Amino acid sequence: MHHDESIIQKTITFVHNRLQKESSGHDWWHAERVWKNALYICRFEPTANMLTVQLAALLHDIADWKFHDGDIEVGPKVAREFLTQHSIDDSVIDHVCEIMRTMSFKGEGVPAPMRTIEGKIVQDADRLDAMGAIGIARTFAFGGYTNREIYNPTIAPIKNATAEQYKNIKTPSINHFYEKLLLLKNLMNTQAAKRLAEERHAFMELYLQMFFKEINVAQENASQTSQNISA
Ligand code: ADP
Ligand code: NI
Repeated sequence: MHHDESIIQKTITFVHNRLQKESSGHDWWHAERVWKNALYICRFEPTANMLTVQLAALLHDIADWKFHDGDIEVGPKVAREFLTQHSIDDSVIDHVCEIMRTMSFKGEGVPAPMRTIEGKIVQDADRLDAMGAIGIARTFAFGGYTNREIYNPTIAPIKNATAEQYKNIKTPSINHFYEKLLLLKNLMNTQAAKRLAEERHAFMELYLQMFFKEINVAQENASQTSQNISA
């Protein structure tokens, strides 16, 4: 146990240093929230290996495939290099790398089932942080970082995207709610995450209602103004 604690501390320092300047919503604080979400879910999943869950949660965004030409091996490679320096069992390292490789959302049409309970927990913990108030903030941060518009009425969301489509989508940030975020509630693996997802989902729906209400009001007011001018 003592050994586990010190390796967790070293991993925190490693991830913190690496993700410090990250501004696309995959910063250290995201990793920390995912780690804490995962620890919470673990309380209800007593068979899970806590060392594997914690390492995978902390390391999961250490080098994202989206920022490495779609290469899903970069993250696991960086994690493996780090973990092998700290005398962790090969079986744990392999498992952490497998989770990192398979947990990412790759489009509505692409099922990404996790093989183990540890993977299910970390995937849920990450997806919870994509939802709710924090999820909304991260979506627009990511959108700005990748030069996306906030909203564009001429571009519809892509439903049922394939992996290739999803990877290349350059649609406005608001579309991401329909392409991914509103789908997450029904994709949760664990009961604990399903429970937490309900409130976050409801808040996103409320947010979107308000967003489109403001757009519509602006439109209606504008058309009234132009009618008054022409009358
Ligand atoms: P995952 O771990 O499932 O791969 P991502 O790293 O793809 O998650 O996404 C993390 C967060 O980044 C999303 O929940 C969202 O907030 C933001 N994001 C990702 N893709 C987009 C996009 N196309 N438009 C806006 N935000 C996005
Ligand atoms: Ni993440």
